Amino acid sequence: MSTLVAGGAGFIGKSLVQHFLDQGEKVLVLDNFCRGKREFLASLAPQKALTVLDCDLAQTEHTLRLVGDYHGKNPISAVWHLAANSDIPAGIADASVDLRDTFLTTYSLLLAMKTHGIKRLAFASSSAIYGEHQQTLHENLGPLLPISNYGAMKLASEAAISAAVESHLERAYLFRFPNVVGIPATHGVIVDFVRKLKATPQSLAVLGNGTQQKAYLHVSELLAAMLFIADKAADRLNCYNIGPADDGVSVRTIAETVCARVSPQAQIVFGQGDRGWVGDVPRFRYSVDKLAALGWQPKLSSAQAIARAVDEIASQEDA
Ligand SMILES: NC(=O)c1ccc[n+]([C@@H]2O[C@H](COP(=O)([O-])OP(=O)(O)OC[C@H]3O[C@@H](n4cnc5c(N)ncnc54)[C@H](O)[C@@H]3O)[C@@H](O)[C@H]2O)c1
Repeated sequence: MSTLVAGGAGFIGKSLVQHFLDQGEKVLVLDNFCRGKREFLASLAPQKALTVLDCDLAQTEHTLRLVGDYHGKNPISAVWHLAANSDIPAGIADASVDLRDTFLTTYSLLLAMKTHGIKRLAFASSSAIYGEHQQTLHENLGPLLPISNYGAMKLASEAAISAAVESHLERAYLFRFPNVVGIPATHGVIVDFVRKLKATPQSLAVLGNGTQQKAYLHVSELLAAMLFIADKAADRLNCYNIGPADDGVSVRTIAETVCARVSPQAQIVFGQGDRGWVGDVPRFRYSVDKLAALGWQPKLSSAQAIARAVDEIASQEDA
């Protein structure tokens, strides 16, 4: 059997593809490389088990045809959907970005699965679906009122998947990720700070006043959590927050950690306001009780995940 990884050329997708190859599976990656990179997949092995096709998943007819052609020869047992816009400010500036890359990708994949009788879907959702809340974010919290188009289109995707479970999917997983860190880093606060410091080693400009505080999970642990849930959770629709059980790390601490590693003499210059950009949720407290009850918790705290990722990303940018 084969697995389809949509968005498999991205930061998280690359590691997931390698995992399935390590398990001896055949893997189909559909990606349009708008943010992912072909070279992430070029070094994976064995290459003969990997098929990489250039596909804009928002183009429904094209997606249906590519999935059908591959599925006819290598039956696909599950789809892991990681394709999305990963640039929240870009989606605030132009709502069509998240409509296309975050929602229509889901729509096309669901239609392809219905058409070709593929029954299992794992979906990379996000803490952004919750919007801004004072209380702890449990999976059953509502109403959900996201404050970014990214969060809105992730929530719309979850809703479409829920409806598909009622009609044609046998099982689906909604994984609500916190901030994920590690390599190969292409976006996010750490790589942003490292690149800024390499360009101007004497100072680091931070978006917002540095008090934003969020939970962080290392990509290796995210993978372990998703695979654990996919193995153990037995409902038809399984929705889980994934993350560490702590209050997270402030942007100030991340800036200080990156400076200490990359440019200790740099002066940190904070911006105004409690958020980095429109649509940024400045702080949230995630409940991971449901995942703990299923039997999984991360080994690294948010602070440990940040420390490890800063080191990895600084080395990546040096290479
Ligand atoms: N990294 C995080 O901190 C984080 C947090 C919460 C949720 N997520 C979700 O996890 C998933 C993976 O995130 P990532 O950090 O690896 O992002 P990424 O940008 O590295 O990967 C997304 C991939 O999707 C591809 N893609 C985007 N639009 C596409 C389209 N229309 N057609 C085909 N391919 C398309 C991109 O080229 C890229 O390879 C995404 O769905 C993201 O929303 C990530």
